[in-house]
Amino acid sequence: MKALIWNKSGKIEIVDKKFPEITEPTDAIVKVTMSSICTSDLHIIHGCVPNAVPNTVLGHEFVGEVTSIGSEVKNISPGDRVSANCETFCGECFFCKLGYINNCTKGGWKLGCSIDGCQAEYVRVPFADTGLTKIPDNVSYSNALFAGDILSSGYFGAEMCEIKQNDTIAVIGCGPVGLCAMQCARLLGAGKIIALDIDDSRLRIAKENNLADITINPQVEDAEKIIFNITKYGADGVIEAAGTDETFTLAWTIARPNAVVAIVAMYENNQILPLPQMYGKNLIFKTGGVDAIHCKKLLEYISQGKLNTDLLISKEVPLNNIIEAYHEFEAKKEGMLKIAVTPWVYEK
Ligand SMILES: NC(=O)c1ccc[n+]([C@@H]2O[C@H](COP(=O)([O-])OP(=O)(O)OC[C@H]3O[C@@H](n4cnc5c(N)ncnc54)[C@H](O)[C@@H]3O)[C@@H](O)[C@H]2O)c1
Ligand SMILES: [Zn+2]
Ligand SMILES: [Zn+2]
Repeated sequence: MKALIWNKSGKIEIVDKKFPEITEPTDAIVKVTMSSICTSDLHIIHGCVPNAVPNTVLGHEFVGEVTSIGSEVKNISPGDRVSANCETFCGECFFCKLGYINNCTKGGWKLGCSIDGCQAEYVRVPFADTGLTKIPDNVSYSNALFAGDILSSGYFGAEMCEIKQNDTIAVIGCGPVGLCAMQCARLLGAGKIIALDIDDSRLRIAKENNLADITINPQVEDAEKIIFNITKYGADGVIEAAGTDETFTLAWTIARPNAVVAIVAMYENNQILPLPQMYGKNLIFKTGGVDAIHCKKLLEYISQGKLNTDLLISKEVPLNNIIEAYHEFEAKKEGMLKIAVTPWVYEK
């Protein structure tokens, strides 16, 4: 089968690989019907993910059809349309029982990192009962594509914010994760969403799709002043989904006293909490890798029309063209959010 691998020099290439096989009784094999490229895949190629194993098939965001299952798999069957969780988790260890699946003692981020991922025709999914969720009948593969990764991450950010009815939530970063966080914040009761980004085309996407009520470009406007004018004391909650030194500072600056600052972004540099400066503001900081435990609920919300991530798909390309797609995704040209990768097309 065809698959995309990377090597230590940062090169990606399409190779022929053997079809994956069931190796554990809890495994399933999935025929990938649609996958996507994630910012984390770029981090791997750039050599910034210590656990990533070279020559592994990339990709962890996908949907597909189950083709075979191991003897202990109970929740899914061959023929099922499924959405995959970006994290592998056993569901039984100390952390899994508490819902902290990101720290599963037998799992974590494995697919497309330390074991072969989904940018291929088929993929082996360990702990298939927890890692795969059936897609409701009225939800298409493309509707469900982001449920297990960026939509889960956006929900994680909104959930960390402890949103109360009619709260004003500021979301920094209108990338795929920020845009998902806005939808989820609205769903959890936010009355007003303020979107911040330095990319005007992304701010426009947030506004035109009614994901944000107010948009601010902090490079050309005084974000702090505008937000304090609107809210009097600052935002009731802040979701930081951009990941720069400036946005870390912005996040706590625009928060009102006693707000939650939820950090979903991954930073390339250490960040400093200037505690003397923020003393008395009594902020709550929360951060971490997503505990993607709500896939079933998120798919139900999509089925009910309460969430819709279709607008994130800027382009569809077959697996044949995935290398060009990586370059385009990384270049983030105007309007580019996510690329959906469809199966390999064989010449007739
Ligand atoms: N915690 C997790 O488990 C988890 C999961 C998925 C993604 N992430 C992280 O979430 C972050 C967002 O992911 P994404 O795919 O949406 O990334 P992205 O790069 O597409 O989006 C980031 C956005 O931040 C904006 N930005 C940059 N500098 C800014 C500034 N000074 N002020 C305002 N906006 C600014 C960019 O223009 C961009 O639109 C990344 O750091 C990613 O690694 C974390
Ligand atoms: Zn990802
Ligand atoms: Zn576990």
